Amino acid sequence: MKRSSWTKSLAMCCMALLLSTYTQAQEHVNGQLWMDTDGQHINAHGGNIIQYNNTYYWYGENRPYSGGSTETGISVYSSADLKTWKNEGVALATSQEAGHDIERGCIMERPKVLYNPKTKKFVMLFHLELKGRGYEAARVAFAVSDSPTGPFQFLRSQRIHANQWPFDMDERAIKAAQQTDASQWKEWWNDAWRKEVNKGMYLWRDMKGGQMSRDMTVYVDDDGKAYHITSSQENLTLLVSELTDDYLNFTGKYNMVAPGGQNEAPCIFKHNGTYWLICSGCTGWSPNEARMFSAKSIWGPWKQHPSPFVGTATGYQNMPANKTFGAQGTYIYQMNGKPIFMADIWNPRHLSQSLHLWLPIEFDANDVPVIRWADKW
Ligand code: DGJ
Repeated sequence: MKRSSWTKSLAMCCMALLLSTYTQAQEHVNGQLWMDTDGQHINAHGGNIIQYNNTYYWYGENRPYSGGSTETGISVYSSADLKTWKNEGVALATSQEAGHDIERGCIMERPKVLYNPKTKKFVMLFHLELKGRGYEAARVAFAVSDSPTGPFQFLRSQRIHANQWPFDMDERAIKAAQQTDASQWKEWWNDAWRKEVNKGMYLWRDMKGGQMSRDMTVYVDDDGKAYHITSSQENLTLLVSELTDDYLNFTGKYNMVAPGGQNEAPCIFKHNGTYWLICSGCTGWSPNEARMFSAKSIWGPWKQHPSPFVGTATGYQNMPANKTFGAQGTYIYQMNGKPIFMADIWNPRHLSQSLHLWLPIEFDANDVPVIRWADKW
């Protein structure tokens, strides 16, 4: 080969290599580690994304390589294009103070950040478990910041709706719940127990101390009203609660969704006037079949549909649709008006290495959501 054509070929090879690297950075490749601009896997799990001043911010659980408790806190990454992410550090740090609600070693899960245009504050809500108490505290926590990258200031953690009944529960239903007694049910999952659960047995049990709040999400409606949606009553029943205008508290208005249905990992979005709620079942870190509900009002009634997932994850351990492709949802982000299902493929042995799975939500001829596997998009 002549020297000039050899140089030309080399230049073309370099160009092709550069182009392919560029293409990779421009795509969402599922089933792999996702690197930030420092070449580290993005350690932001169970979180959400917001856009503020032409920049996207991705918040999530900063998980250690070993162990299930929170050492560092909540991470935040920034991006101009939702593809290249820069680590902005720790948005909310654990406390070094013994006995503090977010003492290092607690469990902080599923953080969600909202920007409040009225107060100009960034508000973070997350699921908190107190240090050394496993998952029994079942609290929601609030933190606030003037800047999207923090530092967020921890405000408080709490059970929810102490001494408050769901707004749509009538007197007869309240009386029936008051006649239940959770302490006498040593055996679960039989028909008699289920009947009591449906009457509101755990709602009544926790009436005084407040309702449990574990897996959670938030949603801001078109009118600016914000809602908290959480897995309550021993993860059996979801609660939808209205937040105050500053997003820092509950108004007290709430109701139940799918009582006794065992839904976790709630994710919600609105499409052509219909609210769609996509959840998982409760199997710890293991994947299970997603559930989907729709309603014309955030207060229901909610109708259950089959799981929206179809096909098999060709690129990721051949995980089928009935295992949500090996993942569990965390948030539905409207990317330029197109809903994207964001999920975690948990790695319980090394939680920091859990993978991210993002898939566009499509709609069938009846405008019902469909989520297909894509190696990349
Ligand atoms: C399932 C939840 O969705 C996760 O956020 C986490 O709490 C695990 N359970 C813990 O087993």
